[in-house]
Amino acid sequence: MSSNRTTFATKLGVIAAAVGSAVGLGNIWRFPYEAGQSGGGAFLLIYLICVAVLGIPLIISEFLIGRTSHSNVGGAFKKLAPGSHWGIMGYMSVLACFLILSFYTVIAGWTIEYVYQAVMNGFSGKSTVELTQAFTDFSTDTYSPLFWLTLFLLANYLIIAGGVKNGIEKASNIMMPFLFVILIVFCVRSLFLPGASEGMSFLFKPDFSKVNSSVLLSAVGQAFFSLSLGMGCLITYGSYFSKETKLGKTAVTVAVLDTLVAIMAGIMIFPAVFTYGIEPSQGPSLVFITLPNVFQQMPGAYIWSILFFVLLATAALTSTVSMFEVITAFVHEEYKISRKKATALSILVCFVFGVVCSLSIGPWKEYTLFGMNIFDLFDYVSANILLPLGGLLVSLFVGYRLDKKITYMQLTNDESYKVWYYKPLLFIVRYFAPIAIVLIFLSGIGFFGK
Ligand code: PHE
Repeated sequence: MSSNRTTFATKLGVIAAAVGSAVGLGNIWRFPYEAGQSGGGAFLLIYLICVAVLGIPLIISEFLIGRTSHSNVGGAFKKLAPGSHWGIMGYMSVLACFLILSFYTVIAGWTIEYVYQAVMNGFSGKSTVELTQAFTDFSTDTYSPLFWLTLFLLANYLIIAGGVKNGIEKASNIMMPFLFVILIVFCVRSLFLPGASEGMSFLFKPDFSKVNSSVLLSAVGQAFFSLSLGMGCLITYGSYFSKETKLGKTAVTVAVLDTLVAIMAGIMIFPAVFTYGIEPSQGPSLVFITLPNVFQQMPGAYIWSILFFVLLATAALTSTVSMFEVITAFVHEEYKISRKKATALSILVCFVFGVVCSLSIGPWKEYTLFGMNIFDLFDYVSANILLPLGGLLVSLFVGYRLDKKITYMQLTNDESYKVWYYKPLLFIVRYFAPIAIVLIFLSGIGFFGK
């Protein structure tokens, strides 16, 4: 194992980078609209259960695969299971990364347009109808989303080319704490809106009549998406952990903070949804229509709106950087291509996919497959198929293939402290997670009938 491979410099850096990967558009953009489409409270409850019983054990599993192998996602499985087919996980992960990146970077581009709008005071004095129209005009336009997409990808290039310590860790350390503070301010503001109680009961009161098998699959998909699970990201980051990093504690911290941000996003958005008569099941446009309404009600609206979208864009950036890092580390280490070239290559490929996704919302929206445009298709396939499949394979790998001694040593940092969760973790990865994921997946795609 290469001992001179880079690691994160500080404990805080480890947390900030891992939380930076987890917290992103998934929490603030995707969670509220998925919850909105799947009935609110019941979705939240299932989501929380998924995070606790599947998410945390799988985060630990990915971390330990990464730290044991000190390798990129493809190399990790090859090293730990030489001569087997497990190396295929590398290709699967890279594919999932590209699919997610291609729509994710488009939305990230939208957030920069909204920074621009905020700076130009473009929300001020607009009614809900006007804000909705402005969003539709922009997102279905051919060129302007592409301009912001390009700018966003360039920012990624600069950070990743800077490397792990200087690029990723520094950027995350600065951005993440900032995001937390501003979310709290927005939550407080939203709680004083007239629609607050309706919004809160939508988010927190489970209505089980809304639960069906596709809601279940969406909740699992959203949990995996939000925790950056099932596509090698946490394996790659785990490979930069030092011997001292406590895997269990880090996993719980990441899961708790990530979930907190998602819930805060819900608290910020749903009161506004009910106050301004916006449909909770609006879909991907939800944040972009709801929040500019809230800003107008706030003293200092101008500054708040700029700050919010800057932070949303940076939260997106720390997440996309983690996805690009999966691809870059893989290409760099497996194919011996320089880091810079590997980064440039992956960004270029992502640009092409991104353009297709962006156009599929506007000029190409009549081209559909299984009733979805390319954007929705990539989102569905990655979150509801590839990530659960990746999670399933990780759990089988740690449950059945990896030497149990390695798992134990990784959990206890070579027996330097005791953990109570070794046996429960093994039980989950061997039996519970595989069975639960397979059943939820099959019922979600309608295998047992609708
Ligand atoms: N977890 C990120 C978010 O919630 C998205 C992501 C998915 C990042 C998969 C890395 C890997 O925005």
